[in-house]
Amino acid sequence: MVTASVPEQKAKVGPTQLLINNEWVNSVSGKRFETINPSTGEVICDIAEADAADVDLAVAAARKAFNSGDWRQMSATKRGDLLYKLADLIEQNIEELARLETLDNGKPLNDSLNADLPLVIACYRYYAGWADKIQGKTIPINGPYFCYTRHEPVGVVGQIIPWNFPLLMQAWKLGPALAAGNTVVLKTAEQTPLSALRVGELILEAGFPPGVVNILSGYGPTAGAAISHHMGIDKVAFTGSTEVGHLIMEAAAKSNLKRVTLELGGKSPNIVFADADMDQALDGSHDALFFNQGQCCCAGSRLFVEEKCYDEFVAKSIERAQNRIVGDPFNEQTQQGPQVDQEQFNRVMGYIESGVREGAQMLCGGSQVGDRGYFIKPTVFVDVKDEMKIAQEEIFGPVMSIIKFKDIDEVIERANATMYGLAAAVWTKDIGKAHAIANSVRAGTVWVNCFDVFDAAAPFGGFKQSGIGRELGEYGLQQYTEVKTVTVKL
Ligand code: NAI
Ligand code: MG
Repeated sequence: MVTASVPEQKAKVGPTQLLINNEWVNSVSGKRFETINPSTGEVICDIAEADAADVDLAVAAARKAFNSGDWRQMSATKRGDLLYKLADLIEQNIEELARLETLDNGKPLNDSLNADLPLVIACYRYYAGWADKIQGKTIPINGPYFCYTRHEPVGVVGQIIPWNFPLLMQAWKLGPALAAGNTVVLKTAEQTPLSALRVGELILEAGFPPGVVNILSGYGPTAGAAISHHMGIDKVAFTGSTEVGHLIMEAAAKSNLKRVTLELGGKSPNIVFADADMDQALDGSHDALFFNQGQCCCAGSRLFVEEKCYDEFVAKSIERAQNRIVGDPFNEQTQQGPQVDQEQFNRVMGYIESGVREGAQMLCGGSQVGDRGYFIKPTVFVDVKDEMKIAQEEIFGPVMSIIKFKDIDEVIERANATMYGLAAAVWTKDIGKAHAIANSVRAGTVWVNCFDVFDAAAPFGGFKQSGIGRELGEYGLQQYTEVKTVTVKL
């Protein structure tokens, strides 16, 4: 493992105000907050801080844009063209956006450039293509009637996104909402406001009408809560912790029964059978956990390994973890950058302590890398028991927990013994086992001999407390329309 030192700021900072009604404005209160470079702990810049009064202004702009003909009645093809234009502009500025993402979030530039940004562009293009293909049905009801459905936009949509994939979460939210003709008030995570604002600038350049997309930076309990409680918002789409997911749903229930879709936490089982291609399973399981500093909702954080290959698998997993290159995210060799902020760093270190306390064996890692920024050594626990905290709760950091199992029925039962159900994976050459796992694990996505395969066309979301609804694909689009039944007497 190499510990690179972190040089100074290597990205251009764009807008730092709020985007409301196609104008850059300060917050009503005039307040600003700082965003930190997680590689150094230093302040990058300060940003206008939205609160309830700014949410009111953004909702009013979004409502006006929704009610006026400029957006909803724009030809669907033209709406699609605007999304294509936005995708093109993001592609033209890919390097700048990737750098900004890496500066604010800490993820390796290699990942920003080769994973996040291509998925962002593909997502906008995918939904651009849908804009003029959203259509209802004609229904042969009884009697002298002509009955058909229209798939109409839900209205003004509030969207609250997290910090682990700032640009990608913005795309997953804006793409389907805009394709379907909704208008949007989007709040970014307080840790990572910068890249979304730069996209705001590109949204203006593309030519979206005023009020269609409003972007607010600010905190959850203030601006976020104002969105989830707002009487003028018809739907809220949220990605983040399960804890806040509960609050969002409660707020919807207490206000106007706004529609709610939630993409929440996970504790995804990643199951390795002894008959798997071992190198593939080892590499895949390593990436499944350590990718994005372990800050993935679908991270393969309960790694079940069959008894017969357990010792070999453990030894080789440790070797891989120890060879992982941690350091300056702008360095081309770097595989792992810092955790996003001090709070997440402390949280992850707390889980590491609890693993040790509860008797799991820590075979590598467990401490900070360097003395500034929020870098954590890739950490591997073995002999992890199902009831330990590190096997139950979402760690959201570079901490692997390897758990031994004997047979397929047992592992299915244990894989399902969690409140989460976001994703799962299985590594085996036995097609029977692969399908048995795919059919019986209660999770929104199952990967067979692969992990983290994302595509704008493939739906993603959770069973159980990992969420409500789906994002991406046609299923994701459906969450942004209301079905209207029209019946005409003939
Ligand atoms: P969080 O759920 O508090 O933050 C996510 C978003 O929700 C942010 O935009 C935040 O400002 C907003 N938010 C916070 N409180 C809110 C409220 N009362 N009303 C409306 N919006 C609110 O997550 P946080 O604190 O950043 O991370 C805590 C843990 O959550 C992580 O350690 C991880 O386990 C999990 N998490 C899961 C994510 C996922 O992709 N599913 C993403 C981020 C965090
Ligand atoms: Mg929080």
